[in-house]
Amino acid sequence: MRIIVIGATGTIGRAVADALSATHTVIAASRHGDARVDIADPASIRALFAATGRVDAVVSAAGAARFRPIAELTDEDFAFSLANKLMGQVNVVREAIAHVADGGSITVTSGVLGQQPSPGSGAISLVNAGLEGFARAAALEAPRGIRVNVVSPPWITETLRALGMPLEGGLDAAAAAQVYVQSVEGTETGVVYRP
Ligand SMILES: NC(=O)c1ccc[n+]([C@@H]2O[C@H](COP(=O)([O-])OP(=O)(O)OC[C@H]3O[C@@H](n4cnc5c(N)ncnc54)[C@H](OP(=O)(O)O)[C@@H]3O)[C@@H](O)[C@H]2O)c1
Repeated sequence: MRIIVIGATGTIGRAVADALSATHTVIAASRHGDARVDIADPASIRALFAATGRVDAVVSAAGAARFRPIAELTDEDFAFSLANKLMGQVNVVREAIAHVADGGSITVTSGVLGQQPSPGSGAISLVNAGLEGFARAAALEAPRGIRVNVVSPPWITETLRALGMPLEGGLDAAAAAQVYVQSVEGTETGVVYRP
């Protein structure tokens, strides 16, 4: 398969690209990657798909949202979070539906804070839960046998280590990547995987 991985230089995305590269052709995309895209900019997403043409699958392991107590979240924090991790990936799904081959797949990334919030996660929890709702609905409408799924990773061990946080409960990026592979190579649609 020809597969676009958006965020392919990141902690999760690099592991996903590595895992998929074993048997597929991966087009590594990000703001500074081989294929350039900024998911916060709808025109940039359209340009990516125009440049890559037909692909069999699209994976997004990108998207930022602000972690801050609700009393401190500004209008700009909400606008940024919604435009980047939520609408960025919603727009990836919308554009990918027009470019993915028959029977192909689209996989986007939410996160554990959508279901298990913590103080400071208000904007992120909003974005993650919204993305999961959208993807389930998009799976119902996707034409030509195209599948739409979400991966909701827990804290990734490499990220916890980089932040100096306790590693307990973390999952290695390589293990999380296997769930993305399952989404790409499997037959399920409308699923939120919670590795
Ligand atoms: N790591 C965790 O513990 C964890 C847990 C749950 C959920 N998640 C979610 O998983 C996703 C990936 O997390 P990560 O930790 O792997 O992130 P990361 O290490 O910061 O990597 C982010 C990747 O996305 C690209 N990127 C960033 N902004 C982009 C944009 N606007 N348009 C296109 N590409 C962009 C980056 O490359 P460029 O700089 O070149 O653009 C990079 O390749 C995020 O949505 C995060 O919220 C992560």
